[in-house]
Amino acid sequence: MTMKIAILPGDGIGPEICAEASKVLDVLRAEGLDVTTAEAPIGGAGYDAAGHPLPDATLALAKSSDAVLMGAVGGPQYDTLPRALRPEQGILGIRKALGLFANLRPALLYPELASASSLKPEVVAGLDILIVRELTGDIYFGQPRGRRTNAAGEVEGFDTMHYAVPEIQRIARVAFEAARKRGGKLCSVDKANVLDTSILWRETVTALAVEYPDVALSHMYVDNAAMQLVRAPKQFDVIVTGNLFGDILSDEASMLAGSIGMLPSASLDANAKGLYEPIHGSAPDIVGRDIANPLATILSLALMFRHTFAREDVARRIEAAVRAALERGMRTADIAQRGDAVVGTRAMGDAVVGALRAA
Ligand code: IPM
Ligand code: MG
Repeated sequence: MTMKIAILPGDGIGPEICAEASKVLDVLRAEGLDVTTAEAPIGGAGYDAAGHPLPDATLALAKSSDAVLMGAVGGPQYDTLPRALRPEQGILGIRKALGLFANLRPALLYPELASASSLKPEVVAGLDILIVRELTGDIYFGQPRGRRTNAAGEVEGFDTMHYAVPEIQRIARVAFEAARKRGGKLCSVDKANVLDTSILWRETVTALAVEYPDVALSHMYVDNAAMQLVRAPKQFDVIVTGNLFGDILSDEASMLAGSIGMLPSASLDANAKGLYEPIHGSAPDIVGRDIANPLATILSLALMFRHTFAREDVARRIEAAVRAALERGMRTADIAQRGDAVVGTRAMGDAVVGALRAA
């Protein structure tokens, strides 16, 4: 069966990092893996090419593919566009259109990078947590939203946070299943001391726990979770949370792993079709300088083989090749420590490819 992959490089460093992931695919293809790829613009590139951050042709390609690899979207030249045309609507739109409600964001500290983390090595050594973020609901998509003039004649902006019970149940199930396969611990993060949405979230997750007696469920308020992540991150195994809290906590967790340039993500629908992307942004400040870290994108490809194509063997080989490149001392600027020789985007990609060929 041919594996059809859509590649949506997007903006900023997106094309550079996707090019390195494509090299990895080239090696696998040369070895006989039946992979086809096709590219399409998204985000600002979609706006430039077709007047919309999610062009119809791009969505059609994504729909007809088995999996999507995305780079990143956004750039200062698009900041003044109306919200509906901003690059971010490309990624938000494709998540919604493909029903990609389950966002898996593993934060793993490679031992070689223990000193690259902003936290003490003993706090983060051996870190391996999984953030399961709900991705198609919450205040990101809630209606009504917008601007209005209130009774006092003041202009106000407003958004609506909401979750329906089935939405909470399906993401909680993904998280319970993941915890079952990992360390057996699930921490649900909410703001149930303040928000009605969170009270319902907590009740719903708690009710579901009877179906997973082998998983130890706990609950934590999001402010405390933000603190605990930097105080004692290894207390966590799997974290499940809503769209907004998950966005924030996963950026925070990336620092535990040394750099935001190291964190891949998988966004899955109910049938494990998925979109795979690094959790970082388009980094307009470093575009075209061959300094971006391509590892989060390459590791996203590994997640694609694991979750969409059920090829754990290929996923592990890609992850081992990344590990081998790090062991050989390859460091892009974001993960380099004083005294390390720094390599560029392409050299890092080449090192991974070399390790993959050798394995
Ligand atoms: C992420 C990003 C996106 C989000 C932006 C680009 C819309 O921050 O994937 O975490 O907020 O979900
Ligand atoms: Mg984010």
